[in-house]
Amino acid sequence: MAAMAPSPGRGAHKHGVIALILCLLVLQREAWGLLCYCEGLCPDHNNFNGTCEAKPNSFCFSAVETVYDVETDQWKEERTYGCLGPDELGLMQCRAYLTKHQRPKNISCCNESDRCNEHLLPQIIHHKPSVAPQGNFLESLLLVTLPLGFVALLAVIMTVWFRYRQRESSMLEYNKPLGLVIGPNDTLSDLIEQSSGSGSGLPLLVQRTIAKQIQLVQSVGKGRYGEVWLGRWRGEKVAVKIFFTTDEASWVRETEIYQTVLLRHENILGFIAADIKGTGSLTQMLLITDYHQLGSLYDYLQNTTLNYFSMIRLSLSTSCGISHLHTEIFGTKGKPAIAHRDIKSKNILVKRNGECCIADFGLAVKYVSENNELDFGNNRKVGTRRYMAPEVLNETINMSCFESLKMADMYSFGLVLWEIVRRCASESGDRYLLADEYQLPYFDCVPPDPSFEDMHEVVCVRGVRPDIPLRWHYNEVLKTMSKVIQECWHANPAARLTALRVKKTLYKFHVSDGTKIV
Ligand SMILES: Nc1ncnc2c1ncn2[C@@H]1O[C@H](COP(=O)(O)OP(=O)(O)OP(=O)(O)O)[C@@H](O)[C@H]1O
Ligand SMILES: *[C@@H]1O[C@H](CO)[C@@H](O)[C@H](O)[C@H]1NC(C)=O
Ligand SMILES: *[C@@H]1O[C@H](CO)[C@@H](O)[C@H](O)[C@H]1NC(C)=O
Ligand SMILES: [Mg+2]
Repeated sequence: MAAMAPSPGRGAHKHGVIALILCLLVLQREAWGLLCYCEGLCPDHNNFNGTCEAKPNSFCFSAVETVYDVETDQWKEERTYGCLGPDELGLMQCRAYLTKHQRPKNISCCNESDRCNEHLLPQIIHHKPSVAPQGNFLESLLLVTLPLGFVALLAVIMTVWFRYRQRESSMLEYNKPLGLVIGPNDTLSDLIEQSSGSGSGLPLLVQRTIAKQIQLVQSVGKGRYGEVWLGRWRGEKVAVKIFFTTDEASWVRETEIYQTVLLRHENILGFIAADIKGTGSLTQMLLITDYHQLGSLYDYLQNTTLNYFSMIRLSLSTSCGISHLHTEIFGTKGKPAIAHRDIKSKNILVKRNGECCIADFGLAVKYVSENNELDFGNNRKVGTRRYMAPEVLNETINMSCFESLKMADMYSFGLVLWEIVRRCASESGDRYLLADEYQLPYFDCVPPDPSFEDMHEVVCVRGVRPDIPLRWHYNEVLKTMSKVIQECWHANPAARLTALRVKKTLYKFHVSDGTKIV
């Protein structure tokens, strides 16, 4: 706060102005702490039923939507409660409207008091769902926007003022190199936390420094595009992916995607640094990320059997990761929507807490709805054939439509869910039923490294999908999972579930203490 100290020789009234501004800041801070009731979309998904804090100038909401319920095979009204962040004001508007899938949704907002949304009960008027509320709505809009406008104006004035003061009092410091410096005792999480304001990872210079200081310990796996090593930085374990020189495009793309603002999420592999050194044929391209000892979901499922709890935890956390990827966040520091295009159990890692995180963004595509712009990067590679959706195999997919890319991800995710659920032991009445052995999807109908034609024949021509074992029908949890899975790998992309829908369905089975669910 040294920047705010008045410079010598200024009038005493300046002190008064600063004090006033500080007072206003404090008052404003207090007004920010609005607590909302949340259910269904709580920020912390171990806490299904709790509270969240609304962001500055924002609201609590209560929403109702008609959704298809895979458990009962019927349409029903579903309520969600939570906090609107300023980013979400563009995404979720406080009004009634039709969703992309032509389903009526009604969102009411409030900010009068803590938990004011708990008893706010918007309804869906089914006869004329597209009529937007008027009159009252306008009034309340004015009531809300006037004070907000005032606060915003104050904020702008203050920002300009502080900027000006800062510049005046620290002209000299501007000559120092900008950015973060690695302190002698900093850990990786310290550094990442310090730079989290930027939303897009560590400054490039810091990344290079870290990359140079890493010792490679041992190789942990080899993929199509590179090799992954366990490395150490100041005693901390990190994963180092070394790309084959022929595959610069994957490194470029993956690095680009990881530097995307707001990508950080507990179910997305944590990015630390990227570096490229050397020239010509000796180029070395590195990508440094968090290390997860349990390896990929594919590795993990080989010799682990699951119970309902661990099965739901793996599935739910993966759906949270995909949902975060797929979702566009609006606002100045927004996040583009991202389609992965290579979802498979080898590209999902298992963390020590039993949750998954999504890795491998070499093929990802970004989309910003405002300018309707699809960014494919420069990578001409295609995904893994075994996991390709039917519309990719028969080449009917509309590659310029972002929705289609998300739906293709959901098909692959359906296959991954099938791999997970097979490993879950179950019971029926008083009988305990053993888990199925691990298998790759389509293990019984295609060779180990299937060709495009093999997959096309099975998936498109014969319309085959992996078998749902009989034992799944004897148990409520597995039966629901099988419905979700079948809706994910539906031949018609438009009929597939979205990641958000899978997430909401799996929430219902999620308990935080590991006790039996059914
Ligand atoms: N961050 C990580 N922590 C621990 N192990 C990892 C990490 N990233 C990758 N691995 C291991 O290294 C293996 C190789 O990963 P890589 O992404 O190079 O190839 P792949 O996913 O197996 O195949 P593909 O090249 O088709 O994506 C993975 O299967 C996994 O076992
Ligand atoms: C959340 O809490 C409310 C009351 O506090 C209760 O009626 C509801 O069933 C709870 N929901 C879940 C999923 O626990
Ligand atoms: C939304 O809910 C409010 C509050 O119950 C109701 O007055 C309004 O008619 C609803 N709008 C629609 C289109 O369903
Ligand atoms: Mg991979």
